[in-house]
Amino acid sequence: MLEVDGLTVRFELRDAVVQAVTDLHLTIHPGELLAVVGESGCGKSVLAHALLGLLPGNATVTGHAHLRPPTGAQVDLVNSSERHLARAVRGRAVGLVPQSPATALTPVRTGRRLLEETLRAHGRTRREAPAAAERVADDVGLDPADLDRYAHELSGGMAQRLATALALAPDPPLLLADEPTTVTGHAHLRPPTGAQVDLVNSSERHLARA
Ligand SMILES: Nc1ncnc2c1ncn2[C@@H]1O[C@H](COP(=O)(O)OP(=O)(O)OP(=O)(O)O)[C@@H](O)[C@H]1O
Ligand SMILES: [Mg+2]
Repeated sequence: MLEVDGLTVRFELRDAVVQAVTDLHLTIHPGELLAVVGESGCGKSVLAHALLGLLPGNATVTGHAHLRPPTGAQVDLVNSSERHLARAVRGRAVGLVPQSPATALTPVRTGRRLLEETLRAHGRTRREAPAAAERVADDVGLDPADLDRYAHELSGGMAQRLATALALAPDPPLLLADEPTTVTGHAHLRPPTGAQVDLVNSSERHLARA
């Protein structure tokens, strides 16, 4: 479904060249999950952005990346026009859960509105969208009541779940998730003496004091 061959990304800076990705090869078949693991700065996010044509103007991408979805036409992800990537690829054929969803989400729409707009842009009717939005939210573990909040009113984990719901809503054949689990899950402190603390959900007041 995705075949990446010799993908190389470099950034031209005023006084230097940054070699962010060098001669990368990978293949993903339908139904497969591939984890790309590496230290900070090794090029994971740049890879995801290169596959979606989202790199800034000082980036040069060489090599090949072809998407062959189970249905629909093959796409050359490196050489397609911006117009084609915007219309047929981003979101529709390849979903992205960005590394920092809280800053990627627009501050002027609630989660519900974002999800319903996304679903409608991808073929759901005005009548179908509200129930579909709640279903997708539920699928990613986001309480439908939290859909009425704006991005800045969500915790990091909730924002990440909303970004995941938005990426999944169009049902893309390929999903790129850039560190999608950094702030989800639970963390409890159980000191030998004293009370247990829920480190993820405690109030600022409690964390500062205790
Ligand atoms: N716009 C840019 N201009 C110049 N260099 C960049 C740019 N964006 C990223 N880089 C460089 O590309 C390299 C890869 O960055 P990238 O963001 O892909 O790392 P990462 O593997 O996602 O790291 P992390 O795990 O910290 O998210 C780094 O050296 C980074 O400094
Ligand atoms: Mg990254």
